[in-house]
Amino acid sequence: MINGVPQLEDLGDLTGKRVLVRCDFNVPIRDGKITDDLRIRAALPTLRWLQDHGATVTACSHLGRPEGKPDPDYSMDPVRDRLAELAPGVSLLENLRFDPGETGDDESFVARLVEGQDAYVNDAFGASHRSHASIVGPPRTLPSAAGRLLEKEVEVLLGCRNEPRRPFISILGGAKVSDKLGVINALLDVVDGLIIGGGMCFTFLAAQGHQVGSSLLEADQIDTCRELLASDNAIHLPSDITALGPGGRIGDPSAGGEVRQFGRDLPDGWMGLDIGPGTAAEFSDVIGEARQVLWNGPMGVFEDPRFEAGTRTVADAVADCGGFTVVGGGDSAAAVAQFGLADQIDHISTGGGASLELIEQGDLPGLAALRSASNAN
Ligand code: 3PG
Ligand code: MG
Repeated sequence: MINGVPQLEDLGDLTGKRVLVRCDFNVPIRDGKITDDLRIRAALPTLRWLQDHGATVTACSHLGRPEGKPDPDYSMDPVRDRLAELAPGVSLLENLRFDPGETGDDESFVARLVEGQDAYVNDAFGASHRSHASIVGPPRTLPSAAGRLLEKEVEVLLGCRNEPRRPFISILGGAKVSDKLGVINALLDVVDGLIIGGGMCFTFLAAQGHQVGSSLLEADQIDTCRELLASDNAIHLPSDITALGPGGRIGDPSAGGEVRQFGRDLPDGWMGLDIGPGTAAEFSDVIGEARQVLWNGPMGVFEDPRFEAGTRTVADAVADCGGFTVVGGGDSAAAVAQFGLADQIDHISTGGGASLELIEQGDLPGLAALRSASNAN
């Protein structure tokens, strides 16, 4: 039992028992093929532990956002095939979100899910910030526990938040300030430095009075950014920007358009798509001094080779950092994998939104549900 959340050991003797395991098998799929099976491999310790202890295991997950009706594009078939290779004998239900009862936490949908099951395990860290039927429903009736992945993620991320090794540097990127406002506020309470890159840096630069050209800008967040900058000097912003000129297209170098470096101000028509080399070096120096790093969100549009340098330099700095390093969020985890640095990171979280919400709130709906199961306490 960790903080009142039951563990696998708290399920008692599982010999001959049927166990339903909620996993987050929401994996990237292109042309019917899984392009990254991290989330499937991450669930194996729990699935194998249950099988080794005599249980018959049924896994379930959502995949994508199919809006409450069956949709062949979101079928679990590719996941089922991969799972059969990695964990023979584990069966897998069809996409939970083919039924509107999943996102609606509908009682009758929960009843169908738990029918015939003797116990429930939540190992879906990446979906545990959703109050959906398969996450919060089963613990109302079944003995329940956190799986090994969920347990590990919570231990690492809450450890970063509650007992940081200092200096603690956090790196945030991604498109929108509005999505990350909660976590920015929570992080500013605990970090020694907050590095901001990615699309959202332009709203901060605009708040300082800079010209951002055609870059992403959330005009309604400028005042909030100004207040954050005024109240906290822990925020590090870019001092130079790599931008794409008029006529260029993201992800399509053949369309033309000039790529150039500027300081903090961009001319009209230019779109900032990466931090510049000076900024990447400055950020790397800050990261190099850290004893704990938490990174969520790329520094630029790294899928386009013209704008990957900033994210690559920051990824190198995180990989080289002697402190404890954690990367969360699908995009930054994908960047680290693309650059071949995954095994130089201490913890790569399988959750994006879930890791941010856990840092922000210190808890998740999926954990609260497990704490209220009949076998907790
Ligand atoms: C994710 O990939 O972020 C999780 O699987 C949750 O998916 P969702 O954002 O569609 O709820
Ligand atoms: Mg998401």
